[in-house]
Amino acid sequence: MKNGMKRLVVGISGASCANLAMLLLKQMSKLEGWETHVVVSKGAQRTLEYETCYTLNDVESLATVLHPLDNVGASIASGTFKTEGMVIVPCSMKTLAGIAHGYSDNLLLRAADVVLKERRKLVLVTRETPLNLIHLNNMVTLASIGVIIMPPMLTGYNRPETLEDAEMHIVGKIMNEFGLEASGFRRWSGACGGEPR
Ligand SMILES: Cc1cc2nc3c(=O)[nH]c(=O)nc-3n(C[C@H](O)[C@H](O)[C@H](O)COP(=O)(O)O)c2cc1C
Repeated sequence: MKNGMKRLVVGISGASCANLAMLLLKQMSKLEGWETHVVVSKGAQRTLEYETCYTLNDVESLATVLHPLDNVGASIASGTFKTEGMVIVPCSMKTLAGIAHGYSDNLLLRAADVVLKERRKLVLVTRETPLNLIHLNNMVTLASIGVIIMPPMLTGYNRPETLEDAEMHIVGKIMNEFGLEASGFRRWSGACGGEPR
């Protein structure tokens, strides 16, 4: 890969918890040797606006490259463009359905389809609650071909004190899937005779 840089594709779709994507991009932007190739759905532009104080310009300033959603001719739309894989955070049920059924009508969906056809790692931070059988079946379809389904579940053992603590634990888990360590990520090291986390 050019200059030895590794590349992570980051899709942001319109499920709740848009801040998770911003926290991930902040962490990734501090890492040496990694590029982020980011694509934001129309739904995510809405949730960013409703749920956070960030804009698409903020996403662009953290990303190595922000690809327009309608540019299905972008680098990440081809399997010949090497990447370490893709995370979609958060992943809406609509985007989940599109991936599970090979319906790639925008760059975010096409990039995920490419990751699957090239047998690269795909992590979906699927967010909805409660889940209906269609959602669950789509997750099973993708899990059965190796996709990591990672709903942003609460964790208690790391003793989060703020919402950002809880969000950062999810970000740490996402980065862990790509062999990366998020700053401040607390790993469980056993309950007996040591620190509680
Ligand atoms: C504030 C807000 C929160 C939403 N939260 C969710 C959610 O948690 N999960 C979900 O599947 N859709 C959620 N939606 C609906 C999606 O944004 C909508 O289905 C959209 O069409 C998804 O398209 P996309 O996957 O291309 O972003 C939410 C919408 C809004 C406005």
